[in-house]
Amino acid sequence: MKPDIVILALLPLALAACSGPAPDLPYGPPQQLMAAHVEPYAQTYWQSVKFESELMPDGTVENREYEPDSDAEWEEVRAAAAHLREMSDVLESPAYAEGRGPAWMTYAAGLGEAALAAEQAAQARDPDAVFTAGGNLYNVCRACHQTYPPAELEAEGGTVDDVPQG
Ligand code: HEC
Repeated sequence: MKPDIVILALLPLALAACSGPAPDLPYGPPQQLMAAHVEPYAQTYWQSVKFESELMPDGTVENREYEPDSDAEWEEVRAAAAHLREMSDVLESPAYAEGRGPAWMTYAAGLGEAALAAEQAAQARDPDAVFTAGGNLYNVCRACHQTYPPAELEAEGGTVDDVPQG
């Protein structure tokens, strides 16, 4: 058998081994969990209540406030926070916490608390409370990333402050 045929025969096996989450990590490795199940939901929450100031061509400043204005929109915000709370449970599970040390549990639990407060603020349909809860949520993300830096940021020599926020 020629060597290049051996390589071709083994390649599909190698690819198969790389694809799909490990059986004990139901949401895939942390990077995948963050990208698919944490970041988008956090963005939904952060985008739901915001204040923008724009300098107009005539030199005046226009201020705009955004907040959910329908049952469906408030429900989307509440559900996003609820999903983040579920993810905190997942991060606390042995499969994700193993070998990370006690700080991991503290931050994962912190995410759960912040997400619960965020959900309650949305349930109360209180834009100011949602804004505050969103800030607290962001602080938890940052704290954990300071101890467990995302590979991409580390490689770029960046800091956790570079993680995009709405
Ligand atoms: C318990 C710790 C912990 C908490 C809390 C946490 N993260 Fe992460 N996050 C990680 C780890 C670990 C990585 C790095 C994964 C890797 O690169 O292997 C990461 C990576 C990321 C990434 C990069 C994903 C990618 O595609 O490379 C984003 C975005 C992110 N987190 C967003 C968030 C947001 C938003 C929050 C808060 C709502 C949050 N994280 C809370 C541990 C945490």
